[in-house]
This record gives sequence, C-alpha cells and structure tokens, in this order.
Amino acid sequence: IEFEFGFRFGSSVRRYLHCTARCGGARGASFVHWDTPENNPDVPFDFTPENYKRAKAIMTVIPVLDLTQRQHGWLPISAMNKMAEVLQMPAMRVYEVATFYTMFNRKPVGKYHIQICTTTPCMLRDYDAILEVLEKKLGIHVGEKTPDKLFTLSEVECLGACVNPPMVQINDNYYEDLLPKDIENILDDLKAGKVPDPGPRNGRFSCEPAGRLTSLTGPPPGPVFLIRADL
Ligand code: FES
Repeated sequence: IEFEFGFRFGSSVRRYLHCTARCGGARGASFVHWDTPENNPDVPFDFTPENYKRAKAIMTVIPVLDLTQRQHGWLPISAMNKMAEVLQMPAMRVYEVATFYTMFNRKPVGKYHIQICTTTPCMLRDYDAILEVLEKKLGIHVGEKTPDKLFTLSEVECLGACVNPPMVQINDNYYEDLLPKDIENILDDLKAGKVPDPGPRNGRFSCEPAGRLTSLTGPPPGPVFLIRADL
C-alpha cells in the first residue's frame, strides 16, 4: 500500500507526502515484485569470483545486498535468489530486507541516482527550490529516470545530514548546504563526466556552526562552579 498525496502550488513542481519512496503506480510499488522482461527469476546473475570470496567473509544479509547491488547496479530477483543460495537461507529473508530499505534498488537506476531528502530540516531550508531545479533541468519527476539513463531522481526521508540542509545524495556522495545554483553546477559537472567534490557548498568544512561559535567560547569554569558554598 502506498499513501501518497500530490500537490501543486501554482508551479510546475510536484510534491509528495508519503510513507515510502515513490516508485510510480501499483506495479512500481517498492515492496512488491512483478516479473518483467528485465527482472524475473531467469535473468542471469552470478557473483564474480572475488565477490564470492567477499560474500563468504561477510555472510550477513545487508552487507551482501550492498555488495550485490554494487556489482550489478541494482537488485534483480535472480540476484537475491543467488544471495539466498550463497548465504544458505530462505529467499524470503533476503526479500524482506531488500524491500524494507530504500537504499536497495529493485529496479534499474540511472548512472547517477539522485536522492533528495525531504524531511523537516531540509524542508525548512527549502528543499523545494532544489527539487524544482532537479525536475526542470532533468525533465523528469520524482520516481523517474532520464531517457539517456544517466539520472534517476528519488525522494527519500532523512539521510542523516540534518545540520547541512538542504542536501542530496548522489550515488555514494553527499552534497550539502545547497542553493539552486549549486545543484545546477553539480548536474552540469555530472553531465560533463566529472564527479564534483562532495560536502557542504557554503564554505563549511563539515557541520561546524555556519556563523561564529555561540557556546563554549570562554575558558571552562573550575570544578566548584555553581556548587553550594556549604558543601
Ligand atoms: S532532514 Fe534532510 S538530512 Fe536529515
């Protein structure tokens, strides 16, 4: 079941409030598998010899799902079946984990998977403006892939960079403290075959205060600070 409300606020931007990543219609729902020509139990998949060794060393579901996705780019059901065989567990155990976490893609994604965070801190710092640029510049909406298969755009919940909002994750990189011009530059770089440096775009090194320090600015008080005189 996917709960979703689409809004239009006098612009071409679509926004969604929902409880799962939007995947486009009942047949695209993220927790249901439907056989398709590109994703069915007969799609050939096997681990490379190196990944066999890695999988046997790891032998738990989430890291092996990640390994599998890194090898294949996404997770066809045949890959999950192979995983279950290698891990010697029922395939359902693998499906359960793969369908729970939005980090696992059970449909092919573009070369660059752009995940925009739309949770409260990013909302308060205007993720809408970033999403508007993404949708306009790529010509796609959330849940879609560009025809050249270069970009997939997904909307996700908090990615844990709440002190650097708004932010997007593109493949393994976080791009933070974004303004519309920043995301334009990032897309231009990616289209030109360059991977821009990850991190904040407002001059911060990491998640230090954006202005000056507002606390812990003087020498620390001694050990009797605020202790009762009669003690
Ligand atoms: S709210 Fe956007 S990263 Fe946490």
